[in-house]
Amino acid sequence: MEVANSLIKGFHYSEKTYFDNPVTYLSCDLTKACNYRCIYCGNAMHGDKGKELSTERKKKLICDLKKYGLKTVLFAGEGEPTIDPDLYLLIEHNYKLGITTILYSNIALLNKRIIEFLYNHDVSLVVKIDALDETIYNKITGSKEFVLFEENFENLLSIYGDQFKEKRIEISTVLIESNKKEPEKIRKLCDKYGLIYCCKTAGKKGMAEKRWKEICPNGTAELEKIAKKYTDKYQTTGTILGDCAIAGHGIAVLKSGECVLCPSLTDYVYANVKTNTIKEIVSTKTKIYNFSNKPACIAKYIQNTGGRLESLLEKHRVSPNEQKI
Ligand SMILES: C[S@@+](CC[C@H](N)C(=O)[O-])C[C@H]1O[C@@H](n2cnc3c(N)ncnc32)[C@H](O)[C@@H]1O
Ligand code: SF4
Repeated sequence: MEVANSLIKGFHYSEKTYFDNPVTYLSCDLTKACNYRCIYCGNAMHGDKGKELSTERKKKLICDLKKYGLKTVLFAGEGEPTIDPDLYLLIEHNYKLGITTILYSNIALLNKRIIEFLYNHDVSLVVKIDALDETIYNKITGSKEFVLFEENFENLLSIYGDQFKEKRIEISTVLIESNKKEPEKIRKLCDKYGLIYCCKTAGKKGMAEKRWKEICPNGTAELEKIAKKYTDKYQTTGTILGDCAIAGHGIAVLKSGECVLCPSLTDYVYANVKTNTIKEIVSTKTKIYNFSNKPACIAKYIQNTGGRLESLLEKHRVSPNEQKI
């Protein structure tokens, strides 16, 4: 039995589903480019050097992972997935295979026609809302898109329908000094429309690392407290078990084909889709993550506490020349 209504569709699976399907999730990175310039973005370079895994290669990866139980594909980062034309081809591909898609987006580029397409192709959304105050929103996102965001959000709520019946929209806030009064309002919005809310502090990476003193001038303790007060979950990828969908039950593949435990940990590569078989990748990933005292969020553990996973990954690294598993 799946766990209804406490998480959005795609993150809603029961413990048994995770037990039966070693790779329930694929996190597939698309473009690094973005129409926003969020002050805390984990990505410091928004330029793109062209795609590295072809569309067909990504489609094949999805088909291959279906044999390991793949049920949900996430398009979460590192840029804005709605900019990448591959997104729509892959959503159609997933839909034909009976796979749910979870799309992370700032929704500035989603007009009514696109939202209808998403709704009709089994796409759940994790929508960025860092503020409901126009000035704060535009300042944090380095954009002038608040008005457009509001219009698109209204369309999204109307097309996606009653979220108390079926949850397909989650709201995500990254909490920094300048928006620390916003979660109270965003929480109320979520309660009014039946949306799941994830409010979390920033990981110290990319732009966030460069501008850390500006975004967290007083450290993160107070911000952590505020986030905890209003949030439904510790991280957007949280499952019913309280762990991370991708690190705990999936595979994360970067644009280059490199496999990482978490899309935010781009330096920790344990295999590559181009050189390793799916069997090797799944086997290595399972070994790497099979250790005790797992942090709830590996990225934050490493980025904010100086924890290290290198030795762990090194121990299980697969080289292309290594004997096939
Ligand atoms: C990299 S963004 C890509 C998708 C889309 N552009 C967006 O912002 O929603 C994916 C998720 O990472 C979050 N994120 C970005 N930088 C972060 C940071 N330094 N710490 C924590 N979360 C971050 C975003 O808020 C978003 O929920
Ligand atoms: S957090 Fe998302 S919307 Fe903001 S700059 Fe980064 S990729 Fe773009």
